[in-house]
Amino acid sequence: MIIEPVIKGVVARSAHPYGCQQAVRKQIDYVKQAKPIERGAKRVLVLGASSGFGLASRIAHTFGGAEADTVGVSFERGPSDQGVGSAGWYNNIFFKQEAEKAGRVATNIVGDAFSQQVRQQVIESVKSDLGGKVDLVVYSLATGVRPNPETGDMWRSVIKTTGKPVVGPTLNLETDSLAEMTVETATDDEVADTVKVMGGEDWASWVQCLSDAGVLAHGCRTVAYSYIGPEVTYPIYHQGTLGRAKEHMHTTAEEINTQLVAIGGQAHVAVCKALVTKASVFIPAFTPYILALFKVMKEKGTHEGCIEQMQRLFNARFYSPKETEQGVLTDEQRLIRMDDWELASDVQQQVSEIMAEMTAENFTQLGDYKGYKQDFMELNGFGFEGVDYQQDITLESLKALQS
Ligand code: NAI
Ligand code: NA
Repeated sequence: MIIEPVIKGVVARSAHPYGCQQAVRKQIDYVKQAKPIERGAKRVLVLGASSGFGLASRIAHTFGGAEADTVGVSFERGPSDQGVGSAGWYNNIFFKQEAEKAGRVATNIVGDAFSQQVRQQVIESVKSDLGGKVDLVVYSLATGVRPNPETGDMWRSVIKTTGKPVVGPTLNLETDSLAEMTVETATDDEVADTVKVMGGEDWASWVQCLSDAGVLAHGCRTVAYSYIGPEVTYPIYHQGTLGRAKEHMHTTAEEINTQLVAIGGQAHVAVCKALVTKASVFIPAFTPYILALFKVMKEKGTHEGCIEQMQRLFNARFYSPKETEQGVLTDEQRLIRMDDWELASDVQQQVSEIMAEMTAENFTQLGDYKGYKQDFMELNGFGFEGVDYQQDITLESLKALQS
């Protein structure tokens, strides 16, 4: 079969395995020539390892200077009679291939990170594949649902505001159009459920579980990823359901940090830049901001993707660089601000000017729609040079790839 891109709304219904391989290789090539991570963790667990910031964290640690062995957890679909499988499935496979070629351990665990079963699998894998301990736990899950173990029901996150309803243009990647959409006000229950799914509770529970199993190394650290953004986006993000979940995550970081003191460890939240990922394309009324932001940051030469953000996080902020000896670089709230270039006042000034002019007719010119769409296609392995998209690929050959 020839694998073509299929987009429904903002969801990709197909992925190109060899394009995903190219995406992984591109990120590896980037970190190999970037400023290296010094004194990075050597045994790393990544929860949410198959795409976005989690995959980039894993690549940065293995190929960007730390030479880490990794266990990665993700929820992905392999090839079957229903389809070729998800992009993350292939990212896992090709990351592992490259890591093993470089003499590193890379174990992929595919399953529900909220479950006890996957916790058990991870503990066993840390014991057998990482020599029994981890030095770093990266928490990078992004999902809309979390099972409630007590009832067997699902908590579902919603993307709503907590103030007055917001009307804003939302992108449809299938039709390349912007359409007005209303972001409604969340009920208290919807806020609480979103905090359950995307807040810090599961992160804390993972750390507790790993601690109970005795697999956290002395000095073990953990990091989770957050977003705050500029004031123009507060109604839809920071003061919305997702922002409330992130606030919970920030508070949780303090609790985990206190807990880890006993083993000389630390917990941090890194506040990242707005980027195109499988998760972020769902946020309504957010696209005009990203389109304007990409345009301005690319013009200024300060634009970063996931891999640039993560390599900079770990080479300049998270591990104490030899030349400075400053320890982790944070703001007064102990947050690592990787959104510093995004929030620079000259950037935000220009972004606001563009957004004020942006309409459904001119957004492809005023904003960086081309770049946005390219990023989206690349997430699913499409649009890369050097990949033969006319190649006839059999399901059998994909099933034969080792996960
Ligand atoms: P993503 O969708 O690219 O990655 C999510 C990962 O979680 C994937 O590896 C997926 O397989 C895994 N996952 C989802 N549900 C799972 C489950 N039940 N069990 C096991 N694995 C599961 O998302 P992205 O954007 O990298 O998000 C990661 C974190 O970064 C999130 O906390 C997000 O809020 C945060 N962030 C994202 C920003 C953006 O603009 N994309 C900006 C700042 C923070
Ligand atoms: Na991720």
